[in-house]
Amino acid sequence: MAKSPSFLSAKAVGSFAYLTIKDRAPQILTKAIDTLHRHKNEFFEKHGEEGVEAEKKAISLLSKLRNEMQTDKPIVPLVEDCADTDLWNQHLEYQCSLLNESNEQPSWFRSPWLFVECYMYRRLHEAVIQSPPINDFDVFKESKDQNFFESQESITALCTYLQELIRTIEDLDENQLKNAFFKLLQISLWGNKCDLSLSGGESSSQKTNVMNSLEDLKPFILVNDLEHLWLLLSTCKKTREKALLNRVSIILDNAGFELVTDLALADFLLSSNLATEIHFYGKTIPWFVSDTTIRDFNWVIKQMKHCNRKWMSKCGLDWENYLKVGRWVYHDHMFWTLPHDYSAMPQVAPDLYAELQKACLILFKGDLNYRKLTGDRQWDFTVPFHQALNGFHPAPLCSIRTLKAEVQVGLQPGQGEQLAASEPHWLTAGKYGVFQFDAPL
Ligand code: F6P
Ligand code: MG
Repeated sequence: MAKSPSFLSAKAVGSFAYLTIKDRAPQILTKAIDTLHRHKNEFFEKHGEEGVEAEKKAISLLSKLRNEMQTDKPIVPLVEDCADTDLWNQHLEYQCSLLNESNEQPSWFRSPWLFVECYMYRRLHEAVIQSPPINDFDVFKESKDQNFFESQESITALCTYLQELIRTIEDLDENQLKNAFFKLLQISLWGNKCDLSLSGGESSSQKTNVMNSLEDLKPFILVNDLEHLWLLLSTCKKTREKALLNRVSIILDNAGFELVTDLALADFLLSSNLATEIHFYGKTIPWFVSDTTIRDFNWVIKQMKHCNRKWMSKCGLDWENYLKVGRWVYHDHMFWTLPHDYSAMPQVAPDLYAELQKACLILFKGDLNYRKLTGDRQWDFTVPFHQALNGFHPAPLCSIRTLKAEVQVGLQPGQGEQLAASEPHWLTAGKYGVFQFDAPL
């Protein structure tokens, strides 16, 4: 088999990885420090002087982290004993072993970008858990919630559309059902524009109604495997024995508006019988600013349920009920916040791999998932997606992602070059998207 290409890395001066480590990541840490600072009074009210001391400690650990990054210091082992600490430190040793010949040490600007960027979020978490009693504080919670509130108009429009659709779903013919399926998938795709890590933690909500723009956005879908998804799920539905389950798993990305689009899609899949159960996978710790944790997941559903807008509240109620009766299941697993790409899952997290194998389709939301699916390497644009997955084939899967990193595979010959010639930032601005499907051979 041909050797895989190199990892993306900040050592390529001027690359998106370089600019992330140089500018965006320190900006995110600065914002986290600022957030802690702004909550000082709250910490005092809750925990007294101890809370204020904890805030100071967390801030000093984060300032240290930012300094290590900006001065390209060696990556150091994690110190706080947690369930994933050994795995992280073993991975760091592995990174060291790759450099043994050159006598270098892993560092922010020289090591693989995927590794160091994940490491930053893990160190940020370490700084917070080393600062009891505020060790449960999510420095990104505020901005995730703000994203939800700022997207109210779009969320209302989406919920109204969904409820109307569900009300008449029995009357829809095959073609109308397929159109609705494609529409909800596209909403979920463009919902991925709203992540907060690309914007350095600044507001990135869905202020306009994306449903009105779907036609205009179609030319920006570079790989469109929607027909495969329809064929797969509609065939499963037709051939399924009565008592059998049809699981669709969704590997979630961002909270706020994107999460609502994913939940709307999940609701449609059940209501149309294209699936009989949905399994969601979120993050165990605050991650890449806007990624969904169990707290964000429950918070969004609760907000919707108690909202005074009729259809939003109906969605909230239905979704809470799906969870209650087990037709929706939420899982978290520490693997999602390890630095490994997904080809390592069978070795590092065999239990999770086995769980994913139970799905008839797995949807991977967002850019970071795409980087982990493809190993975050400098692939040629025309390399088949199946090859870039490097043996990761738990079940038929589809990446639903807007492009926010310099990795893209499975394009037509010349397609990438043509885009690069006219739009220098086509890979990173979140303007383009893919529905990229792969099934085990
Ligand atoms: O920091 C920028 C960035 O890391 C992207 O390159 C990355 O993949 C993205 O943030 C997060 O995007 P998403 O929320 O779609 O996974
Ligand atoms: Mg994200």
